[in-house]
Amino acid sequence: MYIVLEGIDGTGKSTQTKLLQEHLLKEGYQVETVVEPTKSEIGKLIRVQLKNEESTQDTNQQILALLFAADRLTLKDRILEVKGDKTKFILSDRSFYSSIAYQDNPNIDMQWLRKVNDYTPQPDMMILLDLDEDEAIKRCDETEVFETKEFLRRTRQKYLKFLEEENTYKIDASQIVEQVHEDICKLIEENIM
Ligand code: TYD
Repeated sequence: MYIVLEGIDGTGKSTQTKLLQEHLLKEGYQVETVVEPTKSEIGKLIRVQLKNEESTQDTNQQILALLFAADRLTLKDRILEVKGDKTKFILSDRSFYSSIAYQDNPNIDMQWLRKVNDYTPQPDMMILLDLDEDEAIKRCDETEVFETKEFLRRTRQKYLKFLEEENTYKIDASQIVEQVHEDICKLIEENIM
């Protein structure tokens, strides 16, 4: 199964991905974790761009959108090996949902953005760690171009719209870490085990 954790910066995706991996390993499943941007050369390039204020300018936003899509494709074959298989898991900290939420701006045509992400596998399950922007910004180091309160507010609203799509679920990320973890485990047990 290809399960993705999503949410604005500061919602605890990496902590929860790790806890979920430990839990599923204990239950006897084969589990791998990945993170976007990845550790590939494309991912490294993206991380440099994320510290660069110019990344928010029009053409650079389009370049960044393509880099995110290309970086994502480096994971494709690994994901296809486990997608739909209930004995094996790939847990991903972010996915194409991040692109749709974060790269949505006047310089980017959304149909084009969806198109360049067409070859990326669809998650079996998307779990949104939902948190309001006031709380989220407190948990960010604010060193990346997307880490501003107004940007996070708009991005959160876009994430909430995904909940109309199938295989998407929301968790209240303002709770303590253990409770968020428990809620995630319950969601997975009830919906795909
Ligand atoms: P993030 O998960 O915040 O990494 P870290 O915690 O190490 O800083 O991801 C980096 C940023 O990249 C984050 O602000 C969201 C953004 N992003 C996009 O804009 N589009 C994408 O497709 C992805 C995967 C991430």
